[in-house]
Amino acid sequence: MTRVLTVTLNPALDLTYDVPALLVGRSVRVAAVRSRAGGKGVNVASVVRALGGEAVVVAPGALTTPDPFRDGLDRLGLPYRLVPAFESVRQTVAVVGADGATTILLEPGRSAVEGTPEALEAAVADELTRADVLVVSGSLPPGLPHDLPARLARLADVPAIIDVSGAALRAATGAGAVLTPNADELAELVGSRPETIGEVAAHGRRLIEAGAAAVVVTLGEKGAVAITPSGAWLAHTARVVDGNPTGAGDAAAAALAIHLADKIDWPAALADAVATSAACVLKPVAGEIDLQARARWRDTITVEELT
Ligand SMILES: Nc1ncnc2c1ncn2[C@@H]1O[C@H](COP(=O)(O)OP(=O)(O)OP(=O)(O)O)[C@@H](O)[C@H]1O
Ligand SMILES: [Mg+2]
Repeated sequence: MTRVLTVTLNPALDLTYDVPALLVGRSVRVAAVRSRAGGKGVNVASVVRALGGEAVVVAPGALTTPDPFRDGLDRLGLPYRLVPAFESVRQTVAVVGADGATTILLEPGRSAVEGTPEALEAAVADELTRADVLVVSGSLPPGLPHDLPARLARLADVPAIIDVSGAALRAATGAGAVLTPNADELAELVGSRPETIGEVAAHGRRLIEAGAAAVVVTLGEKGAVAITPSGAWLAHTARVVDGNPTGAGDAAAAALAIHLADKIDWPAALADAVATSAACVLKPVAGEIDLQARARWRDTITVEELT
């Protein structure tokens, strides 16, 4: 069974408050409260498990107990290794009205204590001895250097995916990992918005020259492009799903991770990433996928070779 090590550098406890309606400036009674361990690597791990793989979550966590984030991982049933780093793990709050209107409040990441990068490197190096693929995802909290995802990928002698943005993505280009920017993240990295698929592919090729193993650019409802040393492909979405796109990129990374563990067939891997991420948009919660929809869509995706 493929074992995927996921690293979430900016974890969160995601709370959902169901309310009749959110009235700004008024007191609102909350009808129901749900909480879930969140963060992009946690979503990746949940999807890997849904796809039949094994996943381990590594993340900086709270210095003290009780830690609701740890409890959330226990409830998800995902194996994890938390590196003590914060006074407490940040929370996000989604306030959902009866009409579905959702307001999301995102707390900033807490500052990680000194020594956290080194402790994370040690934990990842140790977990890598039992992993087939590494995936490092998401933003960085204050106190963690922006080159940490690149440093973690360099520890791996198995394939690595780095799904980050901004300065962390820039620092990761030379780390020999598969990069998975979305359209906005690629535009920020290259300094302008590519107008055509050909331009996306040209940027991908330059990133490979700069040291990326491959680049998978996700384009939301338009699908995804893979640029690799052996060729480039565009996969169109099987269907544009009207649903929850949060975490679609994480689902794509999970599917790619499983393919990277073996000798990769890129067109098949890209089609699977596109089918799996659409099957994630169908689900209201990030980290979940509709397996039947994925199976139906996987064989109907058109993959075009780009020359
Ligand atoms: N509405 C949609 N219908 C079908 N597939 C979708 C839709 N939105 C996204 N996808 C699929 O999900 C993939 C990833 O989406 P997107 O490019 O939005 O990632 P992202 O911005 O990194 O998402 P996140 O970071 O929230 O996980 C796309 O390449 C596409 O295949
Ligand atoms: Mg993303």
